[in-house]
Amino acid sequence: MKVTYFGHAAFHLEMNGKHLVFDPFISPNPKASAIDLANIQADYLLLSHGHGDHVADAEQIGKRCGATVVSSFEVVSWFEGKGIKGHPMNLGGKWKFDFGMVKYVNAVHSSVLPDGTYGGNPGGFVVWDADCCFYFAGDTALTTDMQIIPLTCPKLDFAILPVGDNFTMGYEDAAIAADWIACDTIIGCHFDTFPYIEIDHEAAKKVFAARGKRLILPAIGETVAV
Ligand code: NI
Ligand code: MN
Repeated sequence: MKVTYFGHAAFHLEMNGKHLVFDPFISPNPKASAIDLANIQADYLLLSHGHGDHVADAEQIGKRCGATVVSSFEVVSWFEGKGIKGHPMNLGGKWKFDFGMVKYVNAVHSSVLPDGTYGGNPGGFVVWDADCCFYFAGDTALTTDMQIIPLTCPKLDFAILPVGDNFTMGYEDAAIAADWIACDTIIGCHFDTFPYIEIDHEAAKKVFAARGKRLILPAIGETVAV
C-alpha cells in the first residue's frame, strides 16, 4: 500500500478505490507549505480527535470533495453542523465501509474541537480488508489497551504511531507499542512540527531496530510503500 505523508499526523492512502485522508493539518503548518490542499482527494476523512492540529483542513477538504467524516460521535456531530456528512463511531466499535472494515480503538489523550466544543473520547483506527490491515493510532500515550488489537483484528501490516513525545508517547514508548501490537513496520508521525516535539531521527530508528522493528520517518510530501 502507498501512504503519502502531508506532515504532522496527516496522511493519504487509497483503499479499494476510495481515498482516505487522516487528520488533515496542512494549511496552518508552515513545514507543509509545499503541499497543495486543492490537490488532495478524499472520500473519507478519518479524524482521531478534535484538536486543531488534526482537523484544521477537514472542513475545506470535506466540502470540496463531498467526503464523509469518520470519528467520534461528538466530532462527527460538530462537522454535520457545518454541512459535512459523517459516520459516528465510539470506542470498541467496528463498521464495514465500502473500502473496508474500520474499528475505532482507544487512545489515551484528550479531545476538544477548535471552538471549545467537547470532542468526546479520542481514538485511533484499525482499518483492514482481505489484503491489508493497518493501525492509525492518533494522539495517544502508550497504553496496554493496544494489546487488544492483535487479539481482535487481523495481523497488522503496518502502523502509524506518534513518536514526538510531550503531547503523545515518544519513540521509546512507541517501540514498546510496536511490540504490543505485534507490528514490525512503523511509520512515525507527530514529530518535528513544533519545538516541543522535535526528535533525533537516528536515535529513534535505533530504538526500533533494537527490537527488530523498522521505523520510517517520512519527509513531508513523501509517499512510502508499505
Ligand atoms: Ni491532540
Ligand atoms: Mn496532536
